[in-house]
Amino acid sequence: MALSVLLLLSAVVAYSIYRTLTRFISNLAAAKRTGLPYYVIPCSPFNWTGQAFRFIYMPLWKLFPRRHWENVQVVLTADWHYRENHRIFEKLGDSFIVISPGQVILYTENAEVIHQITSKREQFPKPTESYKLLSQYGENVVTTEGAEWRMHRKITSASFNEKNAALVFHESINQTQGLVSQWLGPDDKGNKTIKTIEHDTMALMLHIIGYIGFGLKLLWPVEELPPDIDPKLVKYSTLHPPAGHTMNFVDSLAKSLENIIILLIVPRWILNRLPFKKTKEAAEAQNNCMGFMHEFLHDKIDDVNQGNKEVGMDIMGQLVRTSYGEKAKGATLTDSEIIGNAFVMLVAGHETTANIMNFTLLELANNPPVQRALQKDLDNLFGDTDPQKWDYESCINPLMASLVAACMNETLRIVPPVVDIPKRVTPGQDQAIVRDGEKVVIPQDTFIGLTVAAVQRNPRYWPSKPSKITGAENDMDDWVPERWYRTEATASDGDCIEGADTEDFGGFAGPDTSAQLFRPAQGSYIPFSAGARSCLGRRIAQVEMVAALSVIFQKYSLELAVDEWASDDEVKLMSREQKAKVYKKAQGKSREDIKSATSLLTLKMHGSKVIPVRLVKRGEERFVSWLES
Ligand code: HEM
Ligand SMILES: *[C@@H]1O[C@H](CO)[C@@H](O)[C@H](O)[C@H]1NC(C)=O
Ligand SMILES: *[C@@H]1O[C@H](CO)[C@@H](O)[C@H](O)[C@H]1NC(C)=O
Ligand SMILES: *[C@@H]1O[C@H](CO)[C@@H](O)[C@H](O)[C@H]1NC(C)=O
Ligand SMILES: *[C@@H]1O[C@H](CO)[C@@H](O)[C@H](O)[C@H]1NC(C)=O
Ligand SMILES: *[C@@H]1O[C@H](CO)[C@@H](O)[C@H](O)[C@H]1NC(C)=O
Repeated sequence: MALSVLLLLSAVVAYSIYRTLTRFISNLAAAKRTGLPYYVIPCSPFNWTGQAFRFIYMPLWKLFPRRHWENVQVVLTADWHYRENHRIFEKLGDSFIVISPGQVILYTENAEVIHQITSKREQFPKPTESYKLLSQYGENVVTTEGAEWRMHRKITSASFNEKNAALVFHESINQTQGLVSQWLGPDDKGNKTIKTIEHDTMALMLHIIGYIGFGLKLLWPVEELPPDIDPKLVKYSTLHPPAGHTMNFVDSLAKSLENIIILLIVPRWILNRLPFKKTKEAAEAQNNCMGFMHEFLHDKIDDVNQGNKEVGMDIMGQLVRTSYGEKAKGATLTDSEIIGNAFVMLVAGHETTANIMNFTLLELANNPPVQRALQKDLDNLFGDTDPQKWDYESCINPLMASLVAACMNETLRIVPPVVDIPKRVTPGQDQAIVRDGEKVVIPQDTFIGLTVAAVQRNPRYWPSKPSKITGAENDMDDWVPERWYRTEATASDGDCIEGADTEDFGGFAGPDTSAQLFRPAQGSYIPFSAGARSCLGRRIAQVEMVAALSVIFQKYSLELAVDEWASDDEVKLMSREQKAKVYKKAQGKSREDIKSATSLLTLKMHGSKVIPVRLVKRGEERFVSWLES
């Protein structure tokens, strides 16, 4: 008896070893056929169960000669895309394959390869299993593929038009003015050390996304509700929790987004029972937030039934109208899909834009000459006209060609919120692509990582100069917005790809860069991805960010605070040389903190680094009005 059990067990073990081995051998053969450099790793970085056994296989792996593991081992670490970026591809090849028994993965920072992959949605679909966590509120445009995705994309993309972009522009102006008065303080003078830039940019972008997603008017503590507000919306804007809630809408949203990783990973029934402060807060936020979402859905359904017209931008309202309105024919979304899509817009559009604003503000404080040049552009564009009177249609193109957009673009280049875009080859069919004139056949079912953070620092595609900050051979790792005006290395564009998608899947279809500016080669600049599955919110995100930057820098300057090194009175007595020295210290520290950014869901500086800044009226600067670097 014991013997037969033992025999059976050995047979099972032997069989699974045999299966793993044959799978591995066929993976290896397929990888070899590509002609690309390939590396064997003990376990796929996407295999979470496998990762738990690191302690067994890592030491075994390291018994092999160094060249087999030394460079490639980083792909088994968290966050290598941003940390290693282009450097690792220099060592391993601009497109390289890693093979584990369970999976073949292609990582690439080759623009030509990336461009082909993003241009053929059906041959290179999304590995939807990587997004499953995002579907717990309902299936949506991010988590689906194939026919289901087409339906979601078609319905959701209706909100992303130029009319709404103009509304977002104005709301962004209003909200940024709210932020500015917050920063100026009750005496309206500014010149106070602000240690909450992260919190404040998050709040700013949350207010704007609240408008984009739900048509809400969210308030800064110093503001009051406008008298003409729709009474139904009041309960979402008040600071006190409305009846039936323990948190107000904004807090429930902010806290849900802040704790999104916990909320996505821990099932709700477990979460509700855990005793920790953090999990309790997360659960409370989620319960409130879901409650608000359902109430919102029903309010909107009532609106539709009463024949109320749409006002302003309001993605959720628009989704309800397509499913419940008179025009609701053909494919419609279920209630859970409406909530799923509304929620995913918040996830996609909140932290991404907040991080870019945060970084751009800090980099402008780090780089006084750039800040002055940007203000000069703003003076030319707007003079001292009231931002409330800025006209979207006539100013958006010049703004997009100005240093304001160049700063935004450069931040998106150097710290892209999404550092790696996952794709895959369809199972059952190898796919051929061209890389530097050679045909490469990527095996069926290969997992693909388009390494945004690396290609955007690949000197092959970008004009560069020796680094002024570190003395490095090139300035790819530095934030240099002027780069967007270095047209000498103008790249190829618009080359035709055989079999590329031709259908219009909604979203902004305008050009990526205007003609007189540096135009990155296709596939080399993909902060919003590209092709049919590119970011739906791209235009809106750009519009809100340039509007916010314009409002701040038209009348104010942002300086690093130097309190750590000198008091205000000490600064007052300093010579320019001494001031420059003290500012240099603040710049050094701020640059170190920025370098330590890591990416969790999106790229951000996790941990408790605080870079203090001061908002001052133009003309009252202590540093940035004259510092040379
Ligand atoms: C700086 C801001 C933003 C960045 C860098 C960004 C980046 C991206 C990227 C890289 C993708 C592709 C993801 C993938 O393929 O895995 C994406 C998709 C998407 N983004 Fe954004 N995004 C931003 C802002 C927004 C905003 C404001 C919204 C909505 C209001 C939004 C809505 C979406 C949606 C719906 C998708 C899925 C599109 C589809 O799969 O068809 N994004 N975004
Ligand atoms: C993950 O790794 C474990 C252990 O190494 C293995 O048994 C399992 O088949 C792997 N799963 C996948 C999906 O590759
Ligand atoms: C911005 O504020 C102004 C004045 O308070 C108002 O007239 C305008 O409608 C607001 N815009 C948006 C998009 O809320
Ligand atoms: C920044 O990028 C956007 C879109 O990617 C483009 O429209 C704009 O012209 C760029 N601006 C500059 C100054 O490079
Ligand atoms: C924004 O900058 C601050 C520095 O004041 C930093 O602490 C924070 O982590 C940054 N936030 C993001 C989202 O990058
Ligand atoms: C900023 O405020 C401090 C006191 O808080 C004052 O000494 C200093 O002169 C102010 N600077 C300017 C430019 O107003």
